[in-house]
Amino acid sequence: MEIRKVGVVGCGLMGGGIAQVAAQSGYDVVVREINEQLLNAGLDRIKGNLRRNVQKGQMSESEMEQVLGRLHGTVSLESFADRDIVLEAVIENMPEKRQLYGELDKICPPHTIFASNTSSLTIIEMAAATKRQDRFVGLHFFNPVPTMQLAEVVKTISSSESTVETVKRFAESLNKTAIVAKDTPGFIVNRLLVPYLLDAIRVYEEGLATREDIDDGMRLGCNHPMGPLTLADFVGLDTLYFIGNIMFDEFKEPRFAPPTLLKRLVLAGQYGRKTGKGFYEYSSK
Ligand code: CAA
Repeated sequence: MEIRKVGVVGCGLMGGGIAQVAAQSGYDVVVREINEQLLNAGLDRIKGNLRRNVQKGQMSESEMEQVLGRLHGTVSLESFADRDIVLEAVIENMPEKRQLYGELDKICPPHTIFASNTSSLTIIEMAAATKRQDRFVGLHFFNPVPTMQLAEVVKTISSSESTVETVKRFAESLNKTAIVAKDTPGFIVNRLLVPYLLDAIRVYEEGLATREDIDDGMRLGCNHPMGPLTLADFVGLDTLYFIGNIMFDEFKEPRFAPPTLLKRLVLAGQYGRKTGKGFYEYSSK
């Protein structure tokens, strides 16, 4: 099956990044937000990213205009009626996602593939809200989407081989390396990354070293682009807490259990970079 028309539900950090990358790769893209205000904020973020690319000489002004010409914002799900694939990047809330997929299932033609960008929720539970479990997979991108080279294709017990192959080829057409994983919380990357980040918080909590020395240790000792506490702030402490709880609930292993300090920071509303404070403080810039 050939994918030409792409739909993206959600124009936040992840959905906007996915829509941008798909439009840059030549696809006709419709991206949907729940209201005009959020839609305009999301589209402005994409324009800002593209403008930075022009300023760095990575893209010409006319190329940027062409990319923007392929990108159409909407607040209506009906706009997905002619899409070949719909990528969903909305809030990590299973009842909301199931309701959304139930509506999309009625709007989209039978051939449309559905792919969720969830980082930790179970894909088959979403697929079960539709009559197209065979054409339903996970397609998990990494932040920042335009820069990160990877996409995880998540195969459920009901996904067909041809759907997995089509989505893998689609991810490769976005210039990502596509890896395939089973439908268990965290897939490949977060299954390994989340216990590591939680461990970094635990050793900080027990006073092993300063936050800077923990981060420098992994950044300079292992050549990681960011130390674990900086990365936790970057991912969002609320997100990390949410994923840890889901993984702990599924696997019942202590290494996935969020440490006390993480819970306290989340309760305090200190989610990291996005709120200006987490393990570190960030200026509004
Ligand atoms: N949006 C779009 N592009 C961005 C960006 C953003 N928010 N932040 C940085 N970039 C781009 C820059 O434009 C630049 O692009 P070019 O190379 O094309 O010029 C590139 O990223 C590098 O940026 P900088 O030179 O400004 O900064 P840097 O070298 O310090 O890199 C970084 C920044 C890419 C974020 C780097 O620190 C990094 O790779 N960090 C680790 C990120 C990571 O691990 N992400 C995965 C998180 S886990 C996840 O997402 C999954 C989940 O489910 C929780």
